[in-house]
Amino acid sequence: MSDDPILRIRGLQKSFGDNHVLRGMDLDVKQGDCIAILGASGSGKSTFLRCLNFMEIPSDGEIIHAGKTVGTARNGKPRLYPEGELTKVRQKVGMVFQQFNLFPHMTVLGNVTEGLRIVQRMDKTGAETRAREELARVGLAEKADEYPARLSGGQKQRVAIARALALAPDLMLFDEPTSALDPELVGEVLNVIRGLADEGRTMLLVTHEVGFAYHVANRVIFMAAGVIQEEGPPEQVLKNPKNPRTQAFLSRHKQFEF
Ligand SMILES: Nc1ncnc2c1ncn2[C@@H]1O[C@H](COP(=O)(O)OP(=O)(O)OP(=O)(O)O)[C@@H](O)[C@H]1O
Ligand SMILES: [Mg+2]
Repeated sequence: MSDDPILRIRGLQKSFGDNHVLRGMDLDVKQGDCIAILGASGSGKSTFLRCLNFMEIPSDGEIIHAGKTVGTARNGKPRLYPEGELTKVRQKVGMVFQQFNLFPHMTVLGNVTEGLRIVQRMDKTGAETRAREELARVGLAEKADEYPARLSGGQKQRVAIARALALAPDLMLFDEPTSALDPELVGEVLNVIRGLADEGRTMLLVTHEVGFAYHVANRVIFMAAGVIQEEGPPEQVLKNPKNPRTQAFLSRHKQFEF
């Protein structure tokens, strides 16, 4: 295996009209990294993740996936991102959202096989075998024939995780995967994510669960004003932050913990 980082992000920028959200993000994501991303609401955490699998097209900068720079530079003009190239990256970069985004008219098995059938053109039997493996991994083998409406939020989120894993991504992006859940359901989803981290899967995780970040992530980044303000091991960033913005964020965040 090559020593190239799975993802190398250089000078990543994203604007929406006049709103300059990302102003030069630099990050290397290495094999086996579990990187927690913290930052205030509106600081661009979701935008950052969405740029990494090209749900949003970056305004500037480079994303180098598995050693290959995505898109083509053009003299004096924005980089060109051919759709075929983006489809390939999206297959390797799985994403899990706060709101699950399951298809309500499909069974659990249907939701997990859909990408395998459409994107990877797997036959029905092969896709179902693969889907059942991933449902078993998240502890939902027996829910394969159920519809999403009959699942709890925690179960829906675990189906969404199985769906992303089924495509065998080399990087998983989690955008506040437990924020929409009732408190008693948060643990089952965090346990699945912790299991994936323990297996050595590479992931970026936007979360407000600072305690979880502390115990599971090997690196923590704090975003503000469109850049990474502070980056380091959880012990340093969460317990001894150097940057005043990180300090202020964490002290606000901890005011309701006891
Ligand atoms: N599709 C879009 N079109 C226009 N503006 C957008 C779009 N997506 C995000 N923004 C803007 O970009 C900024 C960053 O939003 P983003 O959702 O990335 O923040 P966030 O850090 O994920 O916040 P939260 O913690 O609330 O989820 C906000 O000002 C938001 O209004
Ligand atoms: Mg967000």
